[in-house]
Amino acid sequence: MSNTSFKRTTVTAALPYANGGIHIGHLAGVYVPADIYVRYLRLKKREVLFICGSDEHGVPVTIRARKEGCTPQQVVDRYDKVIKESFQEFGISFDNYGRTTSEVHRQTASDFFRKLYDKGEFIEKESEQYYDEEAQTFLADRYITGECPHCHAEGAYGDQCEKCGTALSPTELINPRSTVSGAKPVLRKTKHWYLPLDRHQEWLEKWILKDHPEWRSNVLGQCKSWFDMGLQPRAVSRDLDWGIPVPVEGADGKVLYVWFDAPIGYISNTKEILPNDWEKWWKDPETRLVHFIGKDNIVFHCIVFPAMLKAEGSYILPDNVPANEFLNLEDDKISTSRDHAVWLDEYLRELPGKQDVLRYVLTANAPETKDNNFTWKDFQARNNNELVAVYGNFVNRALQLTQKYYEGVVPAAGELTDYDRETIAEFAGVKAEVERLLENFRFRDAQKEAMNLARIGNKYLADSEPWKVIKTDPERVKTILHLSLQLVANLAIAFEPFLPFSSQKLRDMLGLGEVQWDRLGSTDLLPAGHQLGKPELLFEKIEDAVVEAQVKKLEDKKKEREAAAYRAEPVLPTIPFEDFEKLDIRVGTVLSCEKVKKSKKLLKFELADGLENRTIVSGIALHYDPATLVGKQVCFIANLAPRTVCGVESQGMILSAVDSDESLSLLTLDRKVAPGSRVG
Ligand code: MF3
Ligand code: ZN
Repeated sequence: MSNTSFKRTTVTAALPYANGGIHIGHLAGVYVPADIYVRYLRLKKREVLFICGSDEHGVPVTIRARKEGCTPQQVVDRYDKVIKESFQEFGISFDNYGRTTSEVHRQTASDFFRKLYDKGEFIEKESEQYYDEEAQTFLADRYITGECPHCHAEGAYGDQCEKCGTALSPTELINPRSTVSGAKPVLRKTKHWYLPLDRHQEWLEKWILKDHPEWRSNVLGQCKSWFDMGLQPRAVSRDLDWGIPVPVEGADGKVLYVWFDAPIGYISNTKEILPNDWEKWWKDPETRLVHFIGKDNIVFHCIVFPAMLKAEGSYILPDNVPANEFLNLEDDKISTSRDHAVWLDEYLRELPGKQDVLRYVLTANAPETKDNNFTWKDFQARNNNELVAVYGNFVNRALQLTQKYYEGVVPAAGELTDYDRETIAEFAGVKAEVERLLENFRFRDAQKEAMNLARIGNKYLADSEPWKVIKTDPERVKTILHLSLQLVANLAIAFEPFLPFSSQKLRDMLGLGEVQWDRLGSTDLLPAGHQLGKPELLFEKIEDAVVEAQVKKLEDKKKEREAAAYRAEPVLPTIPFEDFEKLDIRVGTVLSCEKVKKSKKLLKFELADGLENRTIVSGIALHYDPATLVGKQVCFIANLAPRTVCGVESQGMILSAVDSDESLSLLTLDRKVAPGSRVG
């Protein structure tokens, strides 16, 4: 639906978890595009409200608090402040940035739950869940670790194994342990409320797939695969002591699931600033609701939250959910736990004043249709070759020439040439194009189009050569500069949604007051006789050393991680040479190799060892297909006392290296030797 048929737009940006800072991935995926969109609508004089806030409940907050020995409230207080500051510094222009620990939110979320409860929109179910008898608490999935049933790595979590990436449920873990007390958890019955999404599937499917074919294909694709699997009831409560208490009888020790309360935060944060007027932003069918999110949030914003809103009955549904894919950093996944990220507070300390450069580069590389990559080299190139060489250069030349020839006063235009008219026609077309792209959430193309305006300007100046013409036809130069200055003023408007700090600076230099989007494309923004301010450089070149230092910082962190992994497994104390000589390491040729029955990990080897054949059992089945090992030469300890493993006697140990991700690599030889050769 075209958005002109709406009276106003409510724009939300995913509430960031208040248990860490904000990095470039967050900015690129959610907050910069949302901000561009909102700034654009404001410039168009449309009624718009931009809502965000901290997402402060959930298990990760409690884990962090436990680790740091403080309260969950202290954790979220700290990060709420850090995050809010980052957003402010980057010009993300929320109308309100609230918190899900606010009183208005507690009230709003409780009422919401209560209304659905009273309407019979939930089902109640008992299930068995792990309980820690020592700590006397039910255990969230993340609080249980054990052996992964798939890759058999230790330390897999109750919701996921981080080694092999498989999603788990806690009861699948082998040898589960509570991370709260270390105790072995026991299963205990507990009651929870579920939102029966299966009841909503029919209308959801029609609403998304039939009524909104214009949504991004990544969004539609994910929704479709959820529908194909069949929607299931989802628990909306948890046994936890951090969150909003479930507001019904008999719910002691239970709180709302964080993904139930967080999206209601959009509503609470609207109420907070518009206590008497909030409803029109959420309930009037003439309001258009748009959620900006990352791809990991799609199911919650396209399926779960709409089902909640519909079940409540008085709310509008989102009109679009422009979700982005992920941004990588230097070809590697951004990771908070590995600290592979560019944090916004660090960025600003190290590259002060360069907010717009980052906004520009992140939009230019926005992961709109596929995952994308941020590199410091590209950052430098886009700054130097686009912001400085195209945009900044054009502005600077036009202003400097006006300064030189006319003391900074806008000259009057004379008669226009055909070339002037062509140029005007060309830049008049930019407005419609930028609008079309922005209204379709195509931010990178829209920004490219804005940059095109600067290219048109540069070309116009280069072709018209006022610095030469001034000697032969000074009257003509007045027209050239008059027109160039109009283009410069147009740039201030076109870039306002994308690069707000630079537009402000440019407007100050031009003495141009508030800009109206609808004047974009006009040639009378700066009247003849208007005195311009002092020209300054809009952007500065970024030197190699600056980006090299950033790359080095990431590499150093990586090295540090590797060193930490090494320190975690330090070299054992020194031993005398005689001790080493006690170890008899030999080469064996693999004659046969097969899986040990009833074991996922073990392989049984038959090795030729120069004397007679021997059997060795080795726990590498998850890393090697046995058939591929036959004929290979491996190293083994020949004088280890035999041991019986899974009913098979193992006469020695085959050597392999353990990589940092726990994967194994067999020690093989780079040329064939006689079986039984000594290694040493
Ligand atoms: N905190 C979530 C995340 O960062 C997003 C919550 S969005 C909301 O993935 F809708 F729940 F608020
Ligand atoms: Zn695993």
